Amino acid sequence: MPDTIPNSADELSFDAFDEANDPRPATTEFDTVVDRAMSRRRFLGGSIAFGASAFVMGTTALTPMDARAAAHAARSRLGFAAVAANSLDTVTVPEGYSWHIVARWGDPMFSDAPAFDQATRGSGASQERTFGDNNDGMTLFSHQGRSILAVNNEYTNRSIMYGNRTSGLPENPDDVRKGKAAHGVSIVEVTEQDGFWGIVKDSPFNRRITADTPMEITGPARGHELLQTAADPTGTRSLGTWNNCGNGRTPWGTYLTCEENFNGYFSSSDPDLKVSAEKRRYGIGLKDWGYAWATADERFDIARHPNEANRAGYIVEIDPTDPTSTPKKRTALGRFKHENAEVVVAANGHVVVYLGDDERGEFLYRFVSAGTYSLGGDNSDLLENGRLYVAKFTDDMRGTWVELTPESTGMASDAEIRIHTRQAASAVGATTMDRPEWVAANPHRVEAYCCLTNNKNRGIKPNAGGDETPVGGPNPRKANLYGQIVRWVPDDSDHTADGFDWDLFVTAGNPDAHDDAYAGSANVTSENSFNSPDGLGFDSKGLMWIQTDGNYSNAGDFAGQGNNQMLVADPVSGEIRRFLVGPKECEITGITFSPDRRTVFVGVQHPGEKGDSHFPDGGQSVPRSAVVAVRRDDGKPVG
Ligand code: FEO
Ligand code: CA
Ligand code: CA
Ligand code: CA
Repeated sequence: MPDTIPNSADELSFDAFDEANDPRPATTEFDTVVDRAMSRRRFLGGSIAFGASAFVMGTTALTPMDARAAAHAARSRLGFAAVAANSLDTVTVPEGYSWHIVARWGDPMFSDAPAFDQATRGSGASQERTFGDNNDGMTLFSHQGRSILAVNNEYTNRSIMYGNRTSGLPENPDDVRKGKAAHGVSIVEVTEQDGFWGIVKDSPFNRRITADTPMEITGPARGHELLQTAADPTGTRSLGTWNNCGNGRTPWGTYLTCEENFNGYFSSSDPDLKVSAEKRRYGIGLKDWGYAWATADERFDIARHPNEANRAGYIVEIDPTDPTSTPKKRTALGRFKHENAEVVVAANGHVVVYLGDDERGEFLYRFVSAGTYSLGGDNSDLLENGRLYVAKFTDDMRGTWVELTPESTGMASDAEIRIHTRQAASAVGATTMDRPEWVAANPHRVEAYCCLTNNKNRGIKPNAGGDETPVGGPNPRKANLYGQIVRWVPDDSDHTADGFDWDLFVTAGNPDAHDDAYAGSANVTSENSFNSPDGLGFDSKGLMWIQTDGNYSNAGDFAGQGNNQMLVADPVSGEIRRFLVGPKECEITGITFSPDRRTVFVGVQHPGEKGDSHFPDGGQSVPRSAVVAVRRDDGKPVG
């Protein structure tokens, strides 16, 4: 999600919009904040300091990583020259690299679909046969010698999509149909010819999944009365997926798409409706964000269909190799504003999925499957049942996964916990986080990382459930405007263990603007500074790619940081180097590699969200989100 709601009348962020709907008090426990701030000094001064000259840790618990840093400090594993920050309206890659467009919003997936119409920006019918808008998380699958790219289409910029309307908003039912069809997932076969990747039109694998695609509801909440509606009294079948943010891939070849800010599509035809506390915790209110879906589809009217909103906010599993398959909503993985879903097979065979809830002061979760993975066996329902945990961090750099059960939460059933997961996590006193975005697990070590993108409310306001957000632990800075990446190492090298050690891999900041904690950790310099880490993923070499969704003003606190960007980090040495800079007013989100790692696919989302970009086609063209392929000119692997 972008930091601002593009083109809305008030330019509020999604979090800010939700807060405006449901104001929360500023905390006044100043003493608590000060106490916590004192405790942060130890690790700001020690454990998060990385690099050749500063790998002294504040705790013996992290000595193994300490030793790794020492061993690798001497030479860089990053095989490219750093890209300087800039504010250009193009993609900038390292010297010796090139980029090209793979797919843009509105590109035809079938030969019966028209080319993108710059004047109308398409219709409902054309959008259903073309690549969706605002691409986010994605995975490239290899299947029967073909390459299938599954890509999330998170949301739309209304004044871009409806730039043909004087209001800049949807004005009739076909406009709403177009908007709903621009959301969801685009699945396209892609092929490489002479070094250029593109869509294979009419491939039997090409498929659009939209806000109207039939879905099956599975897991503990399947059939629960809170999921029953007039159209589906069984509570087992719903329509569509929307606001699909980050993603995941399973070892058995399925795609996971993650429903994030699902709330902003619901509204009430009754202006006096009293919205329940359960709904308000998720930001559901009387007004939507201007998408007007309820005007053409009564499902989105909470006054008429109060349970419909309970059927969104899940992880959805999709078989990208079978265009006739029904996507499955996996309620076992909980309901919140899902960012991504990082899947790991633990040493004991259980499947672990790490999950962030991206809102100020919300939580970090872990799912552990009941069954175990079997190579070549039937793993298709491993995400149907399992245990759901939430993270508690302590200032001694230890953490615990607390299981959410009726006993621990006081809630009535596993089903209710999967529907009102935020309330369950609050009940066990989970640690309020600085907006957990993507989680990535190191394929070469038993450890995982999560981007905590920023949180201007840290130490100032509670979360939407009233939980305090004290400064401390992995959230060490009040009014955190830069973000950080937390890392944890499970006990006994076991992702199913309930205890872990943690540290901060990086605290983003700006050493040119600050000389305190807001300057960032020791691995942040004038040359690589950035804000708001969001997308995250490892390559097969074990390097970690960091994507940003933050302030691109290039001024003040953000001077020298330029447009949103992608950096590469060595998790061993802590070194970070800028690899790519995006065009104006975009965020960089979504990453996947070709199996030979000669191509990295990168998402450019919402270029020109405030009206100042013509990426990628230039001239006076409409700005369009796009999947970009980046390759080395000498054909060697990237990174
Ligand atoms: Fe869609 Fe939290 O980013
Ligand atoms: Ca973000
Ligand atoms: Ca994101
Ligand atoms: Ca986004």
